[in-house]
Amino acid sequence: MTTVYLNGEYLPKDRALISPDDRGFIFGDAIYEVVRVIDGRIFEWDAHERRMARGLDGLRIAFGARDVAALRGVCERLVRDNGLSDGEATVYAQVSRGTAPRTHHFPPAGTAPTVYAFATRFIVPRELREKGGKAITFPDLRWARCDLKTVNLLGPVLARQAAAEAGAYEAILLRDGVVTEGAATNAFAVVGGVLRTSPLSNYILPGITRRVLVELVAELGITIVEEPVTHLELPHADELFVCGTTTDVTPIVMLDGRPVGNGKPGATTKKLQEALSARMYAAVGAAR
Ligand code: PDD
Repeated sequence: MTTVYLNGEYLPKDRALISPDDRGFIFGDAIYEVVRVIDGRIFEWDAHERRMARGLDGLRIAFGARDVAALRGVCERLVRDNGLSDGEATVYAQVSRGTAPRTHHFPPAGTAPTVYAFATRFIVPRELREKGGKAITFPDLRWARCDLKTVNLLGPVLARQAAAEAGAYEAILLRDGVVTEGAATNAFAVVGGVLRTSPLSNYILPGITRRVLVELVAELGITIVEEPVTHLELPHADELFVCGTTTDVTPIVMLDGRPVGNGKPGATTKKLQEALSARMYAAVGAAR
């Protein structure tokens, strides 16, 4: 039986009961994180912690930086208690504004946030990583605070469903004629020989993997320009890839039914894929 964490307790999942009045359920009024765990060690915990604290602050949920820092121990214990200390796993952690009768405005001060977390085995989809996947373009239907990692994911849900129905893996989101990011990934493209990705703004999630890649690019001496790719440039991209905690670097080799570049993962994509892999497995000290 899976052990999960709910409001200070470690419980079998079927005993983790959340009220229907929980604001996470009613309003999507919650912040979440997904971390990658390799051999029991969390990759880039500090960055996830900072982003979560910033998100909770952005939504004015009363769960401070120290409370967020304490979630590290929760994540590590869930990995241990679920027998996931060897190999790959992910932990999902969510903090909602808590349970209170439905009002749009905040519940009374002192309403305890609901804290829920679970760990699962992660299987790296090796073939997708090596050969690349398909993507479609889709309108970015999300709100104007995409920099906050809220559980309100209807834009990505509709985008990923459209992708699934088209036999594709990811949806590349377009807002006002430019690529913002993927439905659950950040997107990079090589256009005219130059690596590009959207700059940080309120319209994209500041991805932890994106940040690591920007660092690696500098170490590798590759030039990157943080300027969005337009929808007119996108069909002419030589390379396209998406990245994320559970995506690593995944090449996109078909977009809207047409090959990207020569239809195979490109040289820059592969270089970054290898560099990320080296960083991830070295950072967590896994023998691999
Ligand atoms: N998604 N952009 C969006 C919209 C995302 O949802 C994610 C991650 C990313 C990549 O961020 P990071 O490198 O920090 O994982 C970018 C997570 C994994 C999810 O919703 O499951």
